[in-house]
Amino acid sequence: MAQSLVVSQEEMDKQRQCAARVREGFPGRTYKIVTYGCQMNAHDSENLAGMLEEMGFAPAADEGEADLLLFNTCCIRDNAERRLLGNVSALAQRKREKPDLLVGVCGCMMQQEGGAQRLLDLCPFVDLVFGTHNLYRLPELLLRALRGQPVRETDGDERGCIPEGLPVRRTSAIQGALTIMYGCNNFCTYCVVPYVRGRERSRSVADVVREAESMAASGIQEILLLGQNVNSYAGGATFPELLRALDGVVPRIRFMTSHPKDLSDALIEEMAHSRSVCPQFHLPVQSGNDKVLREMNRVYTRAHYLERVRALRQAIPEVGLTTDVIAGFPGETEAEFADTLSLVEEVQYDSAFTFIYSPRRGTRAAARPDQIPEAVQHERLDRLIRVQERSTASRLAQQVGSVQEVLVEGASRRREGFLAGRTGRGMTVNFPGDAALVGKIVPVRILGTGANTLRGERA
Ligand code: SAH
Ligand code: SF4
Ligand code: F3S
Repeated sequence: MAQSLVVSQEEMDKQRQCAARVREGFPGRTYKIVTYGCQMNAHDSENLAGMLEEMGFAPAADEGEADLLLFNTCCIRDNAERRLLGNVSALAQRKREKPDLLVGVCGCMMQQEGGAQRLLDLCPFVDLVFGTHNLYRLPELLLRALRGQPVRETDGDERGCIPEGLPVRRTSAIQGALTIMYGCNNFCTYCVVPYVRGRERSRSVADVVREAESMAASGIQEILLLGQNVNSYAGGATFPELLRALDGVVPRIRFMTSHPKDLSDALIEEMAHSRSVCPQFHLPVQSGNDKVLREMNRVYTRAHYLERVRALRQAIPEVGLTTDVIAGFPGETEAEFADTLSLVEEVQYDSAFTFIYSPRRGTRAAARPDQIPEAVQHERLDRLIRVQERSTASRLAQQVGSVQEVLVEGASRRREGFLAGRTGRGMTVNFPGDAALVGKIVPVRILGTGANTLRGERA
């Protein structure tokens, strides 16, 4: 991987100056950010919020009152785009009634070829458009929009640059996300991410450790290391070496996502011995059939994937495995899909994100003539979900009677007087307890199961 580029100090200073100009020139304003998509986007929104607050903007109590509405978009599947277009076009009326309302749209869909144009054809009133490569330039771009100039910034160097030291407003005081790498080089034939997030680039170990330490100092108990393929990390050290450097900084460390091709013995070994790294592994398989995997350009086989799962479980018997699966990839036959079902059955995941294949503009698979009819895709997805539900139920049931260390995340949304938290392997537990325990790790005896959760009492 090429040397990673960090955005220059000069450029970051320029953004700080623009932020100061917004703060002085446009005081007392409020914002609301609407986020679509994955954890990367959720964390990008925390940076956007941090920059806005540095510019004197305050979170709006109510979306209807915000002076700035900012949509952070996703284009991984068609439904994400459709929801965005629906929600922004519904603002046309409000924009007429309140002309000084600023509407901004950013994120993956705006970085996608033609994505901004599709939005602007439908919603020409949008004031501010920028893609993922320009996120850190929000102060400069917002200043222009506030001065009445329409902003359309969808270019940017796709090798990208890493902005260090962005302000952040975190949504949780207990758990926090930390990006260790950006972009993706894999070009799975169905996937738009490499086109909208640019090439792989890793932050330096020193920058990652510094951020982790500052998160720990602010009381954060659990860090989620983020990247499209965290185990391909190459910031002057390997991913297991980075985990070693972070061990003990906070009580809990998780990471996502990992690519099966880079799941090394060294990583398994580091996980098995680390004090902080949780016994949880998100390992997207996508398909259980070798022909489909090859056509997806996943560069591993079913046998390799299953061998890696065995190695993980041998070293870390309690590890909780989760995955992503796609049903109805172009050309997928019934027999090939049956291989996916049998793999999911065999691995016994704790849980799985299951998707219907969605053609994405510009990707290789979208150009194939042998697309699978939607009805067939849905029928396959339903069968897949049923197989996974059985596995989830059985993995949960295996926990009953055990005592688990649970990081208490907050009050249970379902039951008064109950707390909710997660075990090391990532299962949610509800148990009766006092709100004073929020943010603490406590032993909980598991008494029973719900559809996707565990129920317990303090041990
Ligand atoms: N970098 C991660 C995941 C990125 S996107 C990885 O490689 O595992 C999250 C998931 O969305 C993918 O794992 C895949 O299952 C799904 N996905 C991506 N593109 C898709 C498409 N065109 N249609 C349906 N699902 C898709
Ligand atoms: Fe998409 Fe594949 Fe990259 Fe994951 S590894 S982001 S699925 S191209
Ligand atoms: Fe994430 Fe969607 Fe972009 S899944 S990387 S927000 S396309």
